[in-house]
Amino acid sequence: MSTITHDVKTAADVLRRGGVVAIPTETVYGLAARADNEYAIHRVFDIKGRPRHHPLIVHVASIDAAHEYGIFNDAAFALANVLWPGPLTLIVPRRPEVSDEITGGRDTVALRVPSHPLTLSLLELLGTAVVAPSANRFGMVSPTNAQHVAHDLGSDVDVILDGGTCDIGVESTIVDCSTSPVQILRPGAISENNIEAVLHEAPAPTTGPSRAPGMLASHYAPHCAVEMFETLSDAVSRQRQLSESGMSTRIIDRSHDAIQCARHLYADLRECDDAGLNVALFVLPEPSGIGRAVRDRLTKAAAPRPK
Ligand code: TXA
Ligand code: MG
Repeated sequence: MSTITHDVKTAADVLRRGGVVAIPTETVYGLAARADNEYAIHRVFDIKGRPRHHPLIVHVASIDAAHEYGIFNDAAFALANVLWPGPLTLIVPRRPEVSDEITGGRDTVALRVPSHPLTLSLLELLGTAVVAPSANRFGMVSPTNAQHVAHDLGSDVDVILDGGTCDIGVESTIVDCSTSPVQILRPGAISENNIEAVLHEAPAPTTGPSRAPGMLASHYAPHCAVEMFETLSDAVSRQRQLSESGMSTRIIDRSHDAIQCARHLYADLRECDDAGLNVALFVLPEPSGIGRAVRDRLTKAAAPRPK
């Protein structure tokens, strides 16, 4: 098992030496490596089992640091100014110094200033950016506490920086600022309305296949099957039907509170697996605010899986 620590300095030392460290953020835990260390970045891809061409988010301590990696237009600058630190990733044209390992050879780069205090002080102490995909194996459920990371990655990660349970619980909103109007590529806690309030212009509707590589139909998937319902009574009828055919099930209904749905979503999915259930039956929150992100992740968890 890898070491779990609360000490930012220990985590910074490991990163400085080119190690891989799991870090807490307000969204989910990330698997961090220095953005200027190719070998460490390759280890992140290998530990996750993630295809090398899927680009990574560069995590920085400040807007100034972000400017070293990307070129900000007015929209990107306004969003960063109002919503960073926070659960928002901005896609902007990259500077030539950013390596192809990070962008998968694209001409854009994904940037974010996370708001978790431990990780912010880690980034400040380290003085360099880190790349950090979610700290799960490719296609599996993201971790929202240090124990999830230890369970999933075991000794593959050098150190886990324990910052408690993630407050938000689903990954950051990704906004592509390289187009006008901007476009949401992945819904998260920062909603369409939050973005419109900053830019005084609605984001372009998200249509067609996702332009964020790696956003596969089946993703965030537990071992058990996942089904979604608009009402509790629909879930109860389905549960009865499944029980008659000998299936073990559980209904998860936090639908009255989308924030709680998001916060507990991945732990709920993990608990269904730990209990060895056949099917998890989720009652969905309204499709507004963070409710959209919950519905997006559950749709991916429920999608047919590649064999
Ligand atoms: O909340 C989060 O964003 C978490 C925490 C750890 O910060 N990180 C996270 O990273 O979710 P990851 O690697 O699991 O998801 C990043 C997504 C991927 O779908 C990737 O395709 C997309 O961001 N992405 C990264 N760079 C991109 C780019 N230049 N253009 C389009 N999409 C990009
Ligand atoms: Mg991920």
